[in-house]
Amino acid sequence: MIVICLVNTCDVFRFIFELDEQAEARIGLICRMDLIGRSIAEAVEQNIASPTGRPSALSRRIPQVPLHRLLLNPHARKGHLPALFADLAKEYGPVFQIKLPTAKPKTFLAGASVNRWAHKSGRMHLRAGGYFAGFENVFGASGVLPSLDGGDHFRLRKAMSPAYSRERLAGQLGQLFRLVRKFMATWTVGETYQARSLCRAMVNEQISSLHVGVDTQDLIDDLVTYKERALSVHIIKIMPEFTLKTPGMKRRAKAIDEMLERVRRVHTPAQRAGCPRNLADDVLSLNVSDPQLVPESNLRFALTATGLTSVYFGDMLSFAIYAMISQPEIHERIRSEADALFDNGDPDGEAFTLAATDVTHRFLQECLRMYPVIAMSVRDVVNSCVVEGHELPVGSRVYIAQTASHYMDDVFPDPFSFDIDRYLPPISAHRSFGFAPYGLGTHTCLGIRQALLQMTVNMMMIAHYFTISASPSNYELRFNPVPSMKPTKKLKFHIAGQRRELPA
Ligand code: HEM
Repeated sequence: MIVICLVNTCDVFRFIFELDEQAEARIGLICRMDLIGRSIAEAVEQNIASPTGRPSALSRRIPQVPLHRLLLNPHARKGHLPALFADLAKEYGPVFQIKLPTAKPKTFLAGASVNRWAHKSGRMHLRAGGYFAGFENVFGASGVLPSLDGGDHFRLRKAMSPAYSRERLAGQLGQLFRLVRKFMATWTVGETYQARSLCRAMVNEQISSLHVGVDTQDLIDDLVTYKERALSVHIIKIMPEFTLKTPGMKRRAKAIDEMLERVRRVHTPAQRAGCPRNLADDVLSLNVSDPQLVPESNLRFALTATGLTSVYFGDMLSFAIYAMISQPEIHERIRSEADALFDNGDPDGEAFTLAATDVTHRFLQECLRMYPVIAMSVRDVVNSCVVEGHELPVGSRVYIAQTASHYMDDVFPDPFSFDIDRYLPPISAHRSFGFAPYGLGTHTCLGIRQALLQMTVNMMMIAHYFTISASPSNYELRFNPVPSMKPTKKLKFHIAGQRRELPA
């Protein structure tokens, strides 16, 4: 037990095992069982935390990036935020400031060492509530999962974790296969579709049905346009507030109420009796059992958040399809894995083992490294601290560019080349602090394992049933990074052929 306490305190387990919430809870329980182990762990923890936690008179001034260095950077012009921040961190160090005309300097953290700090010590110094407040207020909400901190956040996260677990989706695989096929049945061989809207709609078909039990395909465009505008106004703050109140935006906002109404209509106790639990059931029952933690005023946000998930997840799917079809050798290997799993009928949850999905799984890890849809996180400093020799004062806002390390060659050698072997032992690059597509610390993506299973199923089914090519065929990937990373509208997918009939 003492050894487990020590290994846990030094945060080494994540380098040995792939930890899920359950495993972390079990480790926590074992660590609390032995008094000697607890005392030793406490002493070690204080030693690890104190040098970075204590503001020092010797802290250095944070370097400022001159505007011209920013504008002249080739990655800035391509909208490639992770590579841009990697370049800036190499030149100015892991903590630097950018000052745009007419705005206060913004402080950025970038690189594996600050990722480690944010993951391990962020909870003592940083809060998420402040930056998210304006956005959640748009929906009349306050204190939703991404904006809570401390004990309430821990409680809500724990209560919601079954809804976002891999197991929940594994139990719904039959429904997922049907939804994927339903969407693919609308594809016409010879047609060309815009990648972004195709993939967002494909994911929305699945997510809104699986999570909240309704069809929102007729609403998704309005939902996404409104939510992306709200993100640009309140989180990225690159648009003025009135742009969210134009007649067009007011019309689109109605999609949120329409979706909420649909979800409520199909979630009466009588209708849900005997149905497998979904995310809406979990949210609604929390509202009843703990109305302070999940008040009714937060339902408008919580029950329509699938719109945002469809954006992030859909854009990730666009990147992954592009990466697959532009690399024939990898495409062939994914297809072989997919054919082996699907040739004899639909597989069950047990069939999606790491061995059976090895190439697809490593391919997706590399897509998440190269094309992270959420390039950075925003936090407010509530306890002053010194990071890499620079003091972050109370009240300052920091932008943690957690994915900058994805493009640093000391963390990922030859970072611009697509290499799925990085994730094989002994390198196992996904276990390093430099790999952070799902964020860091207490707010790390709760849907990681569910998202990976869903993404694996989507990629495999596409490879199994269809042949797709990029259009134009010489398309060079460019990013639109605002409010989140996505391919530009120019990327299109051409349905070049259908390999087999879709079962009815
Ligand atoms: C591949 C696509 C996805 C990526 C790259 C991604 C990435 C992220 C990141 C970076 C965060 C942290 C944001 C922050 O620190 O401010 C986050 C949070 C979250 N994600 Fe994901 N996500 C993905 C898909 C999903 C899916 C499919 C679900 C649901 C099943 C999900 C559920 C969540 C939740 C609930 C949080 C909030 C956690 C908290 O605040 O405690 N994500 N995600």
